[in-house]
Amino acid sequence: MKLKPTYAVTTPLYYPNSSPHMGSAYPTIAVDAITRHHRQRGSTVLMITGTDEHGQKMKRAAQLHGLLPQTYCDQMVVEFSKLWQQLNIKNDRFIRTTSPDHEAIALEFFQRVYKAGDIYLGTQQGWYCAECEEYKSEKDLLPDHICPTHTNRNCEWRDEQNYFFRLSAYQDKLEEFHNQNPDFIQPEIRRNEVVNFIQQGLRDFSISRINLDWGIPLPNDPTHSLYVWFDALLGYITALLGTDDEPTLENATSKFYPIDLHIVGKDILRFHTIYWLAMLMSAGLPLPKKVFGHGFLTKEGQKMGKSLGNIIDPYNLVDRFGSDAVRYYFMKDIEFGKDSDFSENRFIDSVNADLANGLGNLLSRSVNMLHQYCDGKVPMLKPAEIPSTHILKVLGNDLTDNVPNLYDRVAITKACKECFSLIEASNRYITEQAPWELMKTGGRQTVVDEILYSVLESLRLYAYLMYPIMPTLASKIYTHLGYPSDYCDRPEFFTWQQAKWGLLPCGQLLPRAKPIFQRIVVQD
Ligand code: MSP
Repeated sequence: MKLKPTYAVTTPLYYPNSSPHMGSAYPTIAVDAITRHHRQRGSTVLMITGTDEHGQKMKRAAQLHGLLPQTYCDQMVVEFSKLWQQLNIKNDRFIRTTSPDHEAIALEFFQRVYKAGDIYLGTQQGWYCAECEEYKSEKDLLPDHICPTHTNRNCEWRDEQNYFFRLSAYQDKLEEFHNQNPDFIQPEIRRNEVVNFIQQGLRDFSISRINLDWGIPLPNDPTHSLYVWFDALLGYITALLGTDDEPTLENATSKFYPIDLHIVGKDILRFHTIYWLAMLMSAGLPLPKKVFGHGFLTKEGQKMGKSLGNIIDPYNLVDRFGSDAVRYYFMKDIEFGKDSDFSENRFIDSVNADLANGLGNLLSRSVNMLHQYCDGKVPMLKPAEIPSTHILKVLGNDLTDNVPNLYDRVAITKACKECFSLIEASNRYITEQAPWELMKTGGRQTVVDEILYSVLESLRLYAYLMYPIMPTLASKIYTHLGYPSDYCDRPEFFTWQQAKWGLLPCGQLLPRAKPIFQRIVVQD
């Protein structure tokens, strides 16, 4: 497996126009899992998240609360950080687009693009959705100029002078880029949407707003501020600055650049796969390696979001069920890439079935048997001598090979499902082998030793591979398997060598079994 020494991955930069909801938590959990997975593979990873604080939408949200935009943003950012902590998100950077460093980066970038001749003054007319912060073409709107994602708001007619970015000049280069990099946009279906959009012909887009004081003023014309999307995308570059770095493009792009992976919702894919690429081409900077467009969490078929007021409250879910259950459910049961309706009943059934029954019972049953038949010690055998056709060994070895490939394709749901198949197979195996029967009928201890070893080792491997998704639970499994409580924080944990089946140390003493996941009981 090829090791990439550094890896940079981003969430979108969220509008802090209200407290974060599950739609903001969802991609952040995914990015945290991807980060942890790449760390396990030995890469130095930079996980970037943050907030996109300028623009009309933010100004209005602050006004609604009777606050200055900056004060309002400051309050909301605290909410984001709090939620990330509760969800066990370990971001390395939290970029705020109102930071002075960001302003310096955005202005330097603007100047470069200006010098390249890609910015000019023109007139923009059209329907503007302030919620999307985007001009919409008539054909993309519902009757009465309603935005399909913000059905409770009408778009506003705008007719104003704006500075434009010469996107049309990048038509051929973008087509060529997407032809030559067919894996750049994932999943495949999203790529087709983007490629079709480009083929219809790209139009220049406006990158400034006149008389909007909540934004970065243009250096050449301070009556204009930088369009929030132009500003926000550059946040990914600002985020690369180290704490003591001078805020220059050169410094920001000296390490971790280009970004390896942007995770974004399908609604903002065009910004990341068309506008962003053309902006970088214009500034003479290398392009990111991959963009993954995930689907929407929906409620009764409609995109869940702040403006429609149909949100799932992530704080409430974490409070009631714990961060691992939330992370697990959203990553394993909701296919990353597709839309999915959220149902609390399905959530409870699913985590109970997998984590309490499938996983928890297997661990307590096998640890109990180890205490009954082997004095609580991992049997003394030679794991390498367990036949290579042994069902659990085969499955374990396959996972070692497949899981990194799945993460490289951002197929997180599939990775979780494949890992769980090892737990299902272990449950079937122990039931079929029935070591308790063997012990009763005087079967050979060595046979029982091999059965218990293989099941416990499969649990260890499962915990290792699922650590990116449920770090607390994985760490608990390690402790139950006799490892020190800080084992999952140690450097040796972050080498892919650990992903091999057959590493559980023989003779290791296991503590008595305790439930690792409390079954969720619904109160009527
Ligand atoms: N500020 C821009 C992003 C700028 S990135 C340089 C923005 N912010 S947002 O807060 O409106 O949305 C951030 C992300 O959250 C988007 O990728 C969006 O798709 C995602 N989600 C918001 N609601 C969602 C769901 N209901 N389901 C899944 N993701 C959703 O756009």
